[in-house]
Amino acid sequence: MVSLRFLLCFLFVSSVYATIVSHDGRAITIDGHRRVLLSGSIHYPRSTPEMWPDLIKKSKEGGLDAIETYVFWNAHEPTRRQYDFSGKLDLIRFLKTIQDEGLYGVLRIGPYACAEWNYGGFPVWLHNMPGMVFRTTNKSFMDEMQNFTTMIVDMVKKEKLFASQGGPIILAQIENEYGNVMGPYGESGKAYIKWCANMAQSLDVGVPWIMCQQNDAPQPMVISSV
Ligand SMILES: *[C@@H]1O[C@H](CO)[C@@H](O)[C@H](O)[C@H]1NC(C)=O
Ligand SMILES: *[C@@H]1O[C@H](CO)[C@@H](O)[C@H](O)[C@H]1NC(C)=O
Repeated sequence: MVSLRFLLCFLFVSSVYATIVSHDGRAITIDGHRRVLLSGSIHYPRSTPEMWPDLIKKSKEGGLDAIETYVFWNAHEPTRRQYDFSGKLDLIRFLKTIQDEGLYGVLRIGPYACAEWNYGGFPVWLHNMPGMVFRTTNKSFMDEMQNFTTMIVDMVKKEKLFASQGGPIILAQIENEYGNVMGPYGESGKAYIKWCANMAQSLDVGVPWIMCQQNDAPQPMVISSV
């Protein structure tokens, strides 16, 4: 009896709140319907939390369906394992503001960001680690990237912000525009992008992962070109 009640409760909760995001080879689907979504970028640390509701409201009035943002690693982890999510860096508050304004969110974790942001978001301490090689099958790099990515996903999950949990985030992104620079990395680059896909998938966010400008994105990544 107890387990039946639990099951009914679970079905009720999931059918009322969860949004099912998928894709069928032609379009992204939301609760089974093909959608063309217009998304605009707001980089939360480039404005203040007080400005966020108005910026997002105006985006909605301008016809956007979704707000996308990068996550800025060097701002959040300026010193290794010392984190800052205060003020303009309050990622969770930003995502909740998107939710409050009734838009979808696209979480571009990267954690390489580009974005005309200092060093593309890579922390200086990461650069200074002995033997560090960025964005390839270097164990030091992969460990740090996985550590940060996992932490962000855990934070977002804890607040139930993925669409699969009833939250606004319909897509998550791993790596960023790697397809543009992959050539010189050779076989290591190919192995690295596969590793990125598997690592992201293992985090089980319940929404599709995308890569940006990655025409050979490994399955089940969604190829995306921005
Ligand atoms: C890559 O990471 C490892 C840590 O396992 C490090 O020891 C190694 O020297 C790094 N660099 C290269 C070029 O392999
Ligand atoms: C990140 O690494 C630290 C050790 O430096 C560890 O304590 C922590 O659990 C790791 N976090 C994640 C999310 O893997």
